[in-house]
Amino acid sequence: MKKNITNNVFWVGKNDWELRQFHGYEYSTNRGSTYNSYLIKEEKNILIDTVYKPFAAEFIENLSKEIELTKIDYIITNHAEIDHSGALPELMKLIPDTPIYCTANGVKSLKGHFHKDWNFKTVKTGDKLSIGNNKELIFIQAPMLHWPDSMFCYLTGDNILFSNDAFGQHFCSELLFNDLVDQHELYAEAIKYYANILTPFSKLVTKKIDEVIKLDVPVDFICTSHGVVWRDNPLQIVAKYAEWANNYQENQITVIYDTMYNGTRLLAENIVKGINSVDNNVNVKLFNSATNDKNEIITEIFKSKAILVGSPTVNNGIMYSIAGLLELVKGLKFKNKKAATFGCFGWHDVSTKIISEILNESGFEIILDSLKTKWVPDKEFVIKSYEYGKQFIKQLEN
Ligand code: FEO
Repeated sequence: MKKNITNNVFWVGKNDWELRQFHGYEYSTNRGSTYNSYLIKEEKNILIDTVYKPFAAEFIENLSKEIELTKIDYIITNHAEIDHSGALPELMKLIPDTPIYCTANGVKSLKGHFHKDWNFKTVKTGDKLSIGNNKELIFIQAPMLHWPDSMFCYLTGDNILFSNDAFGQHFCSELLFNDLVDQHELYAEAIKYYANILTPFSKLVTKKIDEVIKLDVPVDFICTSHGVVWRDNPLQIVAKYAEWANNYQENQITVIYDTMYNGTRLLAENIVKGINSVDNNVNVKLFNSATNDKNEIITEIFKSKAILVGSPTVNNGIMYSIAGLLELVKGLKFKNKKAATFGCFGWHDVSTKIISEILNESGFEIILDSLKTKWVPDKEFVIKSYEYGKQFIKQLEN
């Protein structure tokens, strides 16, 4: 069902309340998601993006109730990932000659996905498309935000920035606009999205924000491809992105561990107590990586100035939940964060060395030698863990 954004611009996307995992199982979507597609009806009719492939038939059925499909003059594909382009193959069977406006990389990605030679019109930053009634769509390439093909487009007259994934959230709501939803939920999903998807591209985010600000155009709406439409102070999310892209951190330390028989957990809990005995203003959070949502932990790491990571040695390596989490951490290229490692071992003593090496390789500064103990920590070692926490926070605050 369409929803009005203005009297000539409509949301024609799909709300996916059921979605719980995205990018395969790489990203948890505990509040579902939306695939936002937009229809502009001026002298020309324009469709901006489509929806995720499984909803192609439903999308086309709904869209055809809003407009006779042959009356769509142009399709804009801001990004070729299949959560936005997935309905194109079905749609193009019905309107095969309709021009598709996208970047040169967009053509490559669309051909790579669908192996079709549609009527592509390649655009780059500054190119304009007249849509009648003195209105234009202006294209702005946004490479690596978050794919090489990504772009934004801006609708003059209505002052709408269609930003695709940027400024989005995996957050399902029947309420279309940012001012209508729970602000805590909205921002929890927006920061999770940034932390888990955009962190490696932070420098590009800063550059793109500067570029868009220099355009000096009014922005009344930011229409993203996931989650809400920003209409109430829409630039608030741009300001947040500027903050998040600038080595963002809060006064937080995150302690993450996995454990077999609670030895490494005991170290973790006493490290936390030690930290807070020195500084009870620092927000220390503790997560077992095997039982917590990996993407929520990543968001906590994003917010942290330092992390401590612990695992016992198992099979001459580390526990798999820690290994998996560290693989995510490595890819996200966090900056300006400190770390230390801890863990128990029986006969081989390798876990802390492995974790330290990965964290070091991932850009974390290791500020303290690892805390490690053979077999189960005794009372003396529990005290040592507490002291380790004290030492860690003192070192961090030096
Ligand atoms: Fe929402 Fe990069 O796709």
